[in-house]
Amino acid sequence: MTQDELKQAVAEAALDYIRPHLEGDTVLGIGTGSTANMFIDCLAAVKGLIGATVASSEASAERLRSHGIPVYDLNAVDNVAFYIDGADESNRALHLIKGGGAALTREKIVAAVAEKFICIADESKLVPTLGAFPLPVEVIPMARSHVARELVKLGGDPVYREGVVTDNGNVILDVFNFPIPQPLATEEKINNITGVVTNGLFALRPADVLLLGTSGGVQTLY
Ligand code: 5RP
Repeated sequence: MTQDELKQAVAEAALDYIRPHLEGDTVLGIGTGSTANMFIDCLAAVKGLIGATVASSEASAERLRSHGIPVYDLNAVDNVAFYIDGADESNRALHLIKGGGAALTREKIVAAVAEKFICIADESKLVPTLGAFPLPVEVIPMARSHVARELVKLGGDPVYREGVVTDNGNVILDVFNFPIPQPLATEEKINNITGVVTNGLFALRPADVLLLGTSGGVQTLY
């Protein structure tokens, strides 16, 4: 199977997973990226079964609306039943690296509100130790050089993602050559650097379920 076929399989599996729990007023959190896009396209077929969505990016909000799926501001909802999103990497504890699409901060906010975070990914994303994928860090623009120097002190090689401005008006540093054996501690340490909005480690709030697309079928990891 191609990587896109595996992504499509996990998008469909996510819909199967949540479908028995949907009620007319259920609010879903929707992530960002190619796998999340496939989920949005699947969701369109059953949009009458949900109340609304909240989106982790302007791009996902636009795609949802193009299907006629209502998108609410997160401040307008009390509860998000499920958050469905992809990842750039996951370990077996379901700690993730996210933010390849620069949406990490809003993704982290929606994940924080959600009762259950379902991560959908193809098998190439499962790794023994996080960090082969460069860790995205969203930074207030005036703090870019300061944060980069602090990240070097932590042992990484930060690279400015040129030409990218996040939905929040900030910039991204991608940290290369930075293996992450202790994701919880590293997430906290980087978030404590002044000028960092957040980093792409989802360890303090990991996924609750990982639907992993493999050539042998979709595996469910808890
Ligand atoms: C966007 C993300 C995505 O979930 C991550 O980059 C995975 O993307 P894809 O599903 O296209 O492989 O974190 O900020």
